Amino acid sequence: MTESLPHWYLLGAGNMGTLAAWYLTRAGHTVSVVTDNPAPPSHKQLIFADRSASLTLPCVSPAQLSGSIAHLLVASKTPYTEAALRRVDGHLNSTTQVLRFQNGMGALDGLLPPGTPVLEAITTSAVKGQSPQHTIVAENTTWLGGTQQPPAWLASLQRHWPDLHWETDIRFVQWKKLVANAVINPLTALHDVPNGALVDDPALQQAARALCAEADTLLTALDSRWPGHSFSAVLQVARATAGNTSSMRADRQRGATTEIEAINGWLLRQAQRHGLDLPTHRRLVKALTPT
Ligand SMILES: NC(=O)c1ccc[n+]([C@@H]2O[C@H](COP(=O)([O-])OP(=O)(O)OC[C@H]3O[C@@H](n4cnc5c(N)ncnc54)[C@H](OP(=O)(O)O)[C@@H]3O)[C@@H](O)[C@H]2O)c1
Repeated sequence: MTESLPHWYLLGAGNMGTLAAWYLTRAGHTVSVVTDNPAPPSHKQLIFADRSASLTLPCVSPAQLSGSIAHLLVASKTPYTEAALRRVDGHLNSTTQVLRFQNGMGALDGLLPPGTPVLEAITTSAVKGQSPQHTIVAENTTWLGGTQQPPAWLASLQRHWPDLHWETDIRFVQWKKLVANAVINPLTALHDVPNGALVDDPALQQAARALCAEADTLLTALDSRWPGHSFSAVLQVARATAGNTSSMRADRQRGATTEIEAINGWLLRQAQRHGLDLPTHRRLVKALTPT
């Protein structure tokens, strides 16, 4: 029997959205971009370590949408999620399968019809560039999860998406990435240094240790099975990406809104609900939030 594969409507055809669209289309899914841009670039170029590839993604304006959207891929930067979802207003319902491909947590909270199933994607791959040209800096591991059962198309997608894994309970994978983002991104953004500075600079390392300890206290309060020991994991990421510029540092350098609200801001909101204070995170959010 032939498997019926999804048609995805993509919000945010930037670096990650384009890489996800590349793997999905290799596996036979179809993807169109929903955009307000009157002249969107539909021909994309992906530059991998060993080759370059072209990808054509049809673009539709919100006015061209009709009926319900069955599959929605959200890969906008978190501060623009609400604005991006406005493009598909009236076309989502509780059966729309949403795939969220973003860092941070909670960016879709309160924005979807109640009961909408959300698949979460977490990746350690890295892509940089400016649409329509996207350079794949690293193709690493990606985890999908968030719903009880893996989607029927997962196995065929895994044949085309390198190192793609299913996690029924994806929270710990998300939290691990969240802590790395909550430590490396704001410290490197504030001090305008590459990720490796957390390994080399004792003062930054001390700040990283405090941020990890606060995050571990909170995450243990949220789930006592949280393994903690985030500091060594974060240092490992900083060492492995020593020469890289974090996305928050890059956003700050070009005066763009950062994703700090969905990263450290999410930790602070959870802490408040649990009567905890995370002073080092609080100070960093304050320092990086434009007044
Ligand atoms: N790049 C990576 O290596 C990487 C790795 C892991 C996770 N992520 C996560 O993936 C998500 C997408 O990141 P990305 O690197 O793909 O970002 P990106 O290329 O900078 O942008 C993604 C999309 O966000 C929207 N956007 C960006 N800047 C905007 C602005 N100033 N105003 C309005 N909309 C704006 C645009 O979509 P529209 O114009 O369609 O709204 C853009 O195509 C983020 O949450 C990021 O943290 C990225």
